[in-house]
Amino acid sequence: MKVLVVGSGGREHALCRKLKQSPLLTKLYAAPGNAGIAQDASCIAIKAEDVDWLVRFAVQEKIDLVVIGPEAPLVLGLTDRLQEKGIPVFGPTQAAAQLEGSKGFMKDVVAKAGIPTAWYGRFTGIDQAKDFVRQKGAPIVVKTDGLAAGKGVVVAMTLDEALAAIDKMMGDKVFGAAGNELVIEEYLDGEEASLFAICDGKKALFAGAAQDHKRVGDGDTGPNTGGMGAYSPAPVLTPQLEQECMDRLIAPALIAMAELGAPYTGVLFAGIMITKDGPKLLEFNVRYGDPETQVLMARITNDLLPILLAAAQGRLSDTPLEWSPQPALVVVMAAKGYPESYEKYTRIDNLDQAAKVDGVTILHAGTTAGPGGEIMAVGGRVLGITALGDTVKDAQTKAYQAIDKITWPHGFCRRDIGWRAIAREDGK
Ligand code: AMP
Ligand code: GLY
Repeated sequence: MKVLVVGSGGREHALCRKLKQSPLLTKLYAAPGNAGIAQDASCIAIKAEDVDWLVRFAVQEKIDLVVIGPEAPLVLGLTDRLQEKGIPVFGPTQAAAQLEGSKGFMKDVVAKAGIPTAWYGRFTGIDQAKDFVRQKGAPIVVKTDGLAAGKGVVVAMTLDEALAAIDKMMGDKVFGAAGNELVIEEYLDGEEASLFAICDGKKALFAGAAQDHKRVGDGDTGPNTGGMGAYSPAPVLTPQLEQECMDRLIAPALIAMAELGAPYTGVLFAGIMITKDGPKLLEFNVRYGDPETQVLMARITNDLLPILLAAAQGRLSDTPLEWSPQPALVVVMAAKGYPESYEKYTRIDNLDQAAKVDGVTILHAGTTAGPGGEIMAVGGRVLGITALGDTVKDAQTKAYQAIDKITWPHGFCRRDIGWRAIAREDGK
């Protein structure tokens, strides 16, 4: 099979590494990929949002399966355009991608399907939005309806913070058109986890759980990021809770989407809050998580390629995914300054030494190859140091051993990834 992976991050590198192991694979392409992906796949210089060129390439190369990593091309309708040409795609259509593209749409679908979630209101006017928060009081959560690169969410602990967020998002339009509509919702208290399901339009297969660290600094402090590290499994999601999430959060969403005429195909990523009243849905993403994919792929022991193809073709079987008994942990190395401004084209050395640490895989996110083949950082999140271990602590130790071999003066990482799971292992 000829497979094309769309995207250029650590998520896509993890997918490429996994798909490369498949005996069914004859040729692996990535568009646009990065310097690490180039070691596992043929990188094609077409951007993930360049729908026309991606379709042209897939047709010309007679690609047998396209796996779409990021949300942007999904929301732009890349799946629909490829399907029109008869090419199987792992990823939802434009209509189904609205589950992530519009938080208001998602909340309406979820509420109608009776999925446990935060109460909410949708607003297109500043005054109504402000009246609603004054009426409901703080803590309360204010979100832009549209995509805002993960930044369009303010968890307001006070009324003033909530009112300021409304002014910023809807008045000042700091996230552009994403803030034309706001979703204002109940604050949910609890521990967060992410659950993934591979879907074929009708059926869903449990595809792993993980927890990530969104804040930039140790002790979960500082501004939010795309994710500074993650681990899988998520100890908070017991097998019983996992099943409850599949039955009460995922299955009803698939039925609701099919009824809307937008059956959901691809991976459905549920952001979940485990509250004292049980698991509640925070959000759906219509793609794999980054860096969660890095730890999920490290633990899957089946051949993933036939499963993604079966999902794309609407014929998923009941055969479950199989998992390594070892937990996996990923530590993200980012450019100093991230998530604000940072320097580009700084040099990274000794990655080969780091990759030799037992159980460790180095996955690239924002990298490019310099003129002499040297690895240069060109993004905010740059590397994902992924390790399997006998315990989360063991995986963490291995990941940091590898990191300590890497020479990158312009990079940094958190030093406490996995702390919550490790505290659980220690019985704290
Ligand atoms: P989202 O992009 O919707 O996942 O929101 C980003 C982060 O904001 C989530 O991972 C949570 O940590 C937090 N968050 C979102 N919605 C809520 C909520 N209703 N209650 C508490 N925290 C939330
Ligand atoms: N790590 C969170 C996400 O991919 O959205």
